[in-house]
Amino acid sequence: MSQQPDCLFVDVDTGIDDAFALLYACAEPHARLVGVSTVVGNVSLASATRNTRAVLALAGRGDVAVAPGAAVPLAPEQNDARAVHGATGLGYATLPEPAEPAHAVHAVDALIAAARGHAGRLILVATGPLTNVALAVMREPELPRLVKRFVIMGGAYCVHGNVTPSAEFNIWHDPEAARIVFRAFGGPGGAPVVAVGLDVTRQATIDGAGLGALAARLGATPRALALSQFLEDSARFYFERMERQTGRRFLIMHDPLAVAVALDPTLVETRRAAVDVETAGRLTPGATIVDWEGRWGRLANAEVAVSVDAERFRAKFIDAMVRLAADR
Ligand code: RIB
Ligand code: CA
Repeated sequence: MSQQPDCLFVDVDTGIDDAFALLYACAEPHARLVGVSTVVGNVSLASATRNTRAVLALAGRGDVAVAPGAAVPLAPEQNDARAVHGATGLGYATLPEPAEPAHAVHAVDALIAAARGHAGRLILVATGPLTNVALAVMREPELPRLVKRFVIMGGAYCVHGNVTPSAEFNIWHDPEAARIVFRAFGGPGGAPVVAVGLDVTRQATIDGAGLGALAARLGATPRALALSQFLEDSARFYFERMERQTGRRFLIMHDPLAVAVALDPTLVETRRAAVDVETAGRLTPGATIVDWEGRWGRLANAEVAVSVDAERFRAKFIDAMVRLAADR
């Protein structure tokens, strides 16, 4: 019987690293990107949706339907991350207005339809707040048993947060949604949450020299030049902020690592554990709490990434961009 390829569905809040993740997903030869949905997070839903459509068009995948989802989190509204990603969400990059309209279907319906239509073969990745995934699993409780794999960029498990001392942005932006998702996945027959958190993403960086070397490998076709320009202009905004904060120019590829792990789980070492999300803490809303020693006596619902082969990931990212630039 022919082994049908895996299918990929990505839920994004397109900012700079979400854009890099989408480009990576479009370049993957072994899994077909069948759908993308958008959620409020880094920027507004409208901006995330426009950015996503424009980045897919840049990658030559304007055919992929982009389904807008939640415009506000389940929890009380939090700040966005335009300080990190720029007013548009794509740094200094400018992309043509995408020709393809956004999908008329809501993200939740698109996600559930994809899971049912590719049952057992759908790899679901969330690189933004988990609002859409929470809404989807509340509407379709079978979702964890329909997907082949579920990977999130989210959480800070053994390290400090990046938006508060204890919380990572995607979880912090909608802790109620994150708690619903962690409690829904990982049950009997259900896929666990593969949690790609700051513990590993902070090692997945690329600096100015690395991006320059990448641009040199992309060549000079119109697609290659447009791709190089986008990578450089979007990253430069992020580089400048990092330089002000740390004295160094680098981009943390949080979201591309999550997509890469979804397509090649061997990139990280994971440990199975029960994870829950703080929603009521005065100081710690959005903190991801791991029960490494089983003190809660609960089902271990997550595979928490604890180490990463960052060099192999960087090489895979560069190879993916080279493939994308060469695509007709
Ligand atoms: O904490 C990093 C995450 O928050 C990334 O997904 C980034 O895009 C922002 O959404
Ligand atoms: Ca994101």
